[in-house]
Amino acid sequence: MRIAVLNGPNLNLLGVREPELYGRQSLDEIEQHLRDVARDLHVELEFAQRNGEGELVDVIQSLRGRVDGALINAGAYSHSSLAIRDAFAAVQVPFVEVHLSNIFAREPERRQSMLAPSALALVCGFGARGYELALRGIVASLERE
Ligand code: DQA
Repeated sequence: MRIAVLNGPNLNLLGVREPELYGRQSLDEIEQHLRDVARDLHVELEFAQRNGEGELVDVIQSLRGRVDGALINAGAYSHSSLAIRDAFAAVQVPFVEVHLSNIFAREPERRQSMLAPSALALVCGFGARGYELALRGIVASLERE
């Protein structure tokens, strides 16, 4: 099984960016931890981080027929991007939406997700640990199919 782990705008700055909200772990450290978890689960991972919406759409399109599922933290695009939701629908890749913070406990404009209606699941509020929970969750779901 192969899973893509995608991160959107500003998540390349994890660790230094608003650490009180997003924690002190860098994206590299999160990805390294996920590699260890993936080894235990016997799944393969691939990673991508892009700041642009169109660039994320390009990455999602490239997943077609190559991966079984994806985790995505689309950052601020989660709240606005029909294009990202459409891209997943187009390539028919099941995905789990991830956020470090609990978006439903934040400003009103963050309390809605454009992606959630098409997501297999949504994990938010667990900080960096949410990526691991999402990975374990999507692998269990796909194995059950
Ligand atoms: C975020 C929440 C978004 O509202 C924000 O724009 C981010 C990070 C999170 O992981 O909590 O960039 O996706």
